[in-house]
Amino acid sequence: MDRDQELALALAAQREQLERAGQAHLLRFWDELNQAERAELLGDLSGCHFPEIMSFFDRAVSVPLPIQQQQQQQVDEQMEPVPKEVQGSVSRDWERLPEWKAEGLFQISENKVAVLLLAGGQGTRLGVTYPKGMYNVGLLSRKTLFQIQAERILKLQQLASEQFGHKCTIPWYIMTSSRTMESTKEFFTLNGYFGLQEGNVIFFQQGMLPAMTFDGKAILEGKSKISLAPDGNGGLYRALRNQKIVEDMEKRGIGFIHVYCVDNILVKVADPAFIGFCIKQQADCGAKVVEKTNPTEAVGVVCKVNGLYQVVEYSEITLVTAQRRNADGRLTFNAGNICNHFFTLQFLKNIVKDYEPKLRYHVAQKKIPYIDENSQQIKPDSPNGIKLEKFVFDIFQFSKKFVVFEVLREDEFSPLKNADSQNGKDTPTTARHALMSLHHRWVLNAGGHFVDENGTRIPAIPSSTTGMSEAINNNLQELADVPIKCEISPLVSYSGEDLDKYVAGREFRPPLIIDEKGVQELTANGL
Ligand code: UD1
Repeated sequence: MDRDQELALALAAQREQLERAGQAHLLRFWDELNQAERAELLGDLSGCHFPEIMSFFDRAVSVPLPIQQQQQQQVDEQMEPVPKEVQGSVSRDWERLPEWKAEGLFQISENKVAVLLLAGGQGTRLGVTYPKGMYNVGLLSRKTLFQIQAERILKLQQLASEQFGHKCTIPWYIMTSSRTMESTKEFFTLNGYFGLQEGNVIFFQQGMLPAMTFDGKAILEGKSKISLAPDGNGGLYRALRNQKIVEDMEKRGIGFIHVYCVDNILVKVADPAFIGFCIKQQADCGAKVVEKTNPTEAVGVVCKVNGLYQVVEYSEITLVTAQRRNADGRLTFNAGNICNHFFTLQFLKNIVKDYEPKLRYHVAQKKIPYIDENSQQIKPDSPNGIKLEKFVFDIFQFSKKFVVFEVLREDEFSPLKNADSQNGKDTPTTARHALMSLHHRWVLNAGGHFVDENGTRIPAIPSSTTGMSEAINNNLQELADVPIKCEISPLVSYSGEDLDKYVAGREFRPPLIIDEKGVQELTANGL
């Protein structure tokens, strides 16, 4: 059978299904397509199981969109902050931190902990064509987000092994999408899995869904291309089921999973304190949060709605509610979601088996570029269709014991969302500065000091008059924003521990790197 005959056969199979699902328009341009384009369209179609997609669509729009918007207003009215008794905090509960850390590290040493990275997003706001984890924010070491995370895993394995006297593994599950799978895998291969064992890095792929018109027709982006997007980070659960990932976890004896998103440069992968806290509270599900201080910050808030835990996403909360404040002046809804979650394996199993299929998709109305019947490429000015997404936190409501762990923003949260050119928030520059500023503090806490080009000590909290170049002195804002260039490899320290032997009582002229080769003071022009 030649290629044309193969394609004709595949077309016949698709045509019947598409007609049944009311999607035959997707073949509108078939006669005009060349062989490669036909194969491309059939490729897109083979990833779309329309009977299932139509059932998702019908449920998502079973409540008309204007009424969904009204219901959202009502959600606002039913929101309650997270009660004190389910909260733990690194600052308020500092006395209990060692106990929680010890528990987390013990579970790691027993091979009970896995990490799961959500990396199926498209990085649209950052504007790169490759997976966000491959992004290099311009650190001294030029490490990418993937490398930083891999090295934190390696370090934790080492810390747990040393403390408990036997080797251990933290398997790393990485969820990609059909758009990011190949490049992600290739990047890991090219980089020798950053020193991790290949068999302990498990890639799996989330589903894609077509953008739909309001009346349920999948949208054609081009003559041979369906407008497809990943099904949201809550697509995790469908992917866990379809690709038997939960079974893999079970085979490895995993009991607890830390799920996190790719873009936070400060993420404490498999954080023993968070894991230990959740386990000690006998929680089946937990969320790490930072205090939200700005009402319009693009973070969801963890709260209760109608007595059930959930995250009300920044795109779904009303401004009035986001701005509500308590008597002490703090935001009422201040548990800012940083997309770091804890699940027991048993909880995940229940979700995958029983609960997830019951969840309705979130509907986002979007301006979706398309090709019209006259082959014109159209970029609409107003929303012409919807995208369906589930969110990773949609399942909090099914938890039997839910807890919240508050951490410090400056230690644990600096996401990379936007390009430097777009605006000043959550950019490569802010991510780089957050990491350097944290590592600067680690050096100071371990008894090290920094000096300027004249050998004068730079104070821990810089003033406008000491130790900085004139150009910077002239601009206090800039002074506050430019941290000392300092970077500590995760292979040397996971969260600031064990640095005394490198830095105590010593003075350094930045830029400074501390890595497996030791202390390196780089000259400015060596950068
Ligand atoms: C997310 C959270 C938000 C939180 C913020 C903190 C969700 C739905 N929202 O928002 O509550 O305050 O992070 O930074 O979690 N991803 C997939 N597949 C997809 C879509 C996204 O794996 O289909 C991954 C991304 O690769 C990323 C993570 O999910 O690692 C978060 O996605 P993103 O779109 O950046 O979420 P935000 O809108 O920033």
